[in-house]
Amino acid sequence: MKHHVYLILLMASGVLYAADTPQSMMERYATEAKAEQSDFQGFSAERGEVFFKSTHGGDWSCASCHTSVPTQSGEHAGTGKTIKPLAPSVNSERFTRLKKTEKWFKRNCNDVLDRPCTAVEKGDVMTYLLSL
Ligand code: HEC
Repeated sequence: MKHHVYLILLMASGVLYAADTPQSMMERYATEAKAEQSDFQGFSAERGEVFFKSTHGGDWSCASCHTSVPTQSGEHAGTGKTIKPLAPSVNSERFTRLKKTEKWFKRNCNDVLDRPCTAVEKGDVMTYLLSL
């Protein structure tokens, strides 16, 4: 009986880890955004696009490496390495592993904003990318 329970828990956790999708990430960021902003009204593709294409005090914007057409491949502004498109409509690998997404949001936001992105900023950017 006990082993039965462990097996079910193991299977359930396997499903949870495997099941990252753009939608599940958006739900997560929406929950965080409500905690961040008591008057949170939902994410905005327009806000995400402006955020993505603007600089935030430094030399780089998100578009510096991902281009201002994120359905196309980008090029790392420092190393010149090719970066596959961010838009899930043309790159189905995008936003399918929360760990990876969070790692790059953390690194890239620090490079561009000199601070981590808020949940609202992440959700806005994802909403923009998912609209393409
Ligand atoms: C200096 C170059 C550079 C800049 C500037 C940059 N990125 Fe990236 N980004 C990368 C690289 C390199 C990767 C990882 C390679 C890959 O996933 O193709 C990446 C990956 C990502 C991912 C991972 C998506 C996934 O789950 O596969 C997201 C999200 C992302 N970037 C968002 C942003 C946002 C938002 C900004 C602006 C705040 C930004 N990036 C600015 C280089 C950059």
